[in-house]
Amino acid sequence: MKDILLLAIESSCDDTGVAIMRNNKVLANINYGQKIHEAFGGVIPESASRQHMQNLLPVVQAAIAKAAIKITDLNAIAFTQSPGLIGSLMVGVSFAKSMAQALGIPCIAVNHMQGHVLSSIIDVPNPNFPFLCLTVSGGHTQIVVCKSPLQIEIIGQTIDDAAGEAFDKAASMLGLAYPGGPLIDKLAQLGNPKTFTFAKPNIPDLNFSFSGVKTSILYFIQKQVAINPNFIAENLNDLCASIQDNIVTILLKKLHKATEVTGIKNVSIAGGVSANSGLRNGLKLYATKYGWQTHIPALEYCTDNGAMIGNVAYYKYLASEFSTLDVVPSARATYN
Ligand code: KG4
Ligand code: ZN
Repeated sequence: MKDILLLAIESSCDDTGVAIMRNNKVLANINYGQKIHEAFGGVIPESASRQHMQNLLPVVQAAIAKAAIKITDLNAIAFTQSPGLIGSLMVGVSFAKSMAQALGIPCIAVNHMQGHVLSSIIDVPNPNFPFLCLTVSGGHTQIVVCKSPLQIEIIGQTIDDAAGEAFDKAASMLGLAYPGGPLIDKLAQLGNPKTFTFAKPNIPDLNFSFSGVKTSILYFIQKQVAINPNFIAENLNDLCASIQDNIVTILLKKLHKATEVTGIKNVSIAGGVSANSGLRNGLKLYATKYGWQTHIPALEYCTDNGAMIGNVAYYKYLASEFSTLDVVPSARATYN
């Protein structure tokens, strides 16, 4: 069968990601992070859109140069259509449609969450289906059954905050910069995870809740700081290790429940929080204990990136799922 050459754009939040794929194999995956948001402790949507405007063309050019392809050889242009920040999405969607129109090739709309779910099978020649995926990012926390690349069913999700949000908010309580998840991970490696305990809410079914966890961390810190103003500085590594252990335990216990409910032991993780070393190591321990077969995405495919969009686009191309040029982005969306 003829090779399919794709250019994929991810611009749903604050990272400008562009990948070039040959089938589901990555030829280039360039990601340009926006440092501007660190100073504000969160993503400022309008700044994010402007930065995408500024960065997208150079990132596209860098990806094309890295992959050493001719743009006239491209078969389609893929882009994140939903969910995400509407202004950020509009930049990527408009760029992709224009490029597809100029080259006379189709464009392919991709759901960002589907991109995360399939990120563990990028470059994998014959992936096994069905698999369960725990998708944990800054905006979402879901468990899905992935029956085939284009057939995904949500079986559990957060009823309030996302796991990434819990990491970021806890980090901000500790005075760490945004996004705090990776910083908690780094400091946690120097601390004892069993030093402090926080709430582990008992949420029914396969759903999650992190707002109570966040409040319990906040109240604990406030109480300790009232007694000892240096409490955070003196216990930072143990606090990070304990917070991480608390969040990871909630996630893995629910994933275990999902394997029991569905009988599926083919398990993967995805999304920014799947880069967390505690979660990655914990998943391996559960896999050994319960006989799971795991798919853990490479670190560069955990946080938002163009390759995860290009990978979905490859399967959509095979199924002839192209979009028309009047396609518009959507801030919210379910799997389609
Ligand atoms: O998937 P992603 O890049 O963007 C969204 O779609 O939201 O996820 C970003 C989230 C942030 O909350 C960030 O703090 C978290 O992923 N994150 C981590 C780690 N790396 C990124 N959380 C914990 N440990 C990490 N190593
Ligand atoms: Zn994401």
